[in-house]
Amino acid sequence: MTNPTLATYLLRDGAGVPLVLLHGFPLDHRMWVAMVDELPQGPRVIAVDLPGHGHSDLGQLPASLDATADLVHATLREQGEGNAVVVGLSMGGYVALAMAERHPGFVRGLGLVDTKSTADDDAARDGRLRVAAAVEATQTLDAVMGMPAKLLGPTSELERRSLYPTVYAWIRSQGLSGVAWAQRAMAARPDRTDVLRSFGGPVAVVVGAEDQVTTVDDARHMAGAARDATLAVVPNAAHLSAVEEPAAVARAVADLHARVR
Ligand code: MLT
Repeated sequence: MTNPTLATYLLRDGAGVPLVLLHGFPLDHRMWVAMVDELPQGPRVIAVDLPGHGHSDLGQLPASLDATADLVHATLREQGEGNAVVVGLSMGGYVALAMAERHPGFVRGLGLVDTKSTADDDAARDGRLRVAAAVEATQTLDAVMGMPAKLLGPTSELERRSLYPTVYAWIRSQGLSGVAWAQRAMAARPDRTDVLRSFGGPVAVVVGAEDQVTTVDDARHMAGAARDATLAVVPNAAHLSAVEEPAAVARAVADLHARVR
């Protein structure tokens, strides 16, 4: 099996335990740039393009977020990182939880933004498999090009219209095989609520108040399960809270980093 090479980006230099950022679907590291601009000076900030997204290839990686978590961990270790505060948005959060389960000594703190710890129900899983099949059958991204309307909320629709072409362009630039792979990998993920129950480090749960994809209830469920969690509900933001309200998400991420001992 050929493992893919993951593209990583040093978005900010700094010191101490680094901050690792994992993006949502079907996006790449660019979704974090506005949030990083709002972070106070502090740790090194590394963003990763997940397999088949951005500038990361797919190799022969199985459609598995466990394999993805192992690959992100191995990539960071090869780069000399001994541990990190890992922050993931949506799909990135699923990978962050898998990292916390599989590499608990590496993950010092966990940021879960617009994501959930539960698995898909049958209908959601079937929907993902249909999207994967449609992308491959049509050799287009048509099946996911409607996503900006789901990812961005009513406040963005009214007040941040310029985000739509940006998010649309990010999605349009993703590869067909990466999009199909991610749908299958997310469909196969287990419930990882127990990971939160056993995780020893600080957890920050962040959710856009308008998020209809992973809801405030999903966020409350995670914060309630974790041993040491904060919950930030970000007003006027939806599923891409880090893009819609980057300053509010940066505050929660900086606070998480400060809680790591
Ligand atoms: C994402 O933003 O990564 C996706 O909405 C995740 C998902 O489909 O569950």
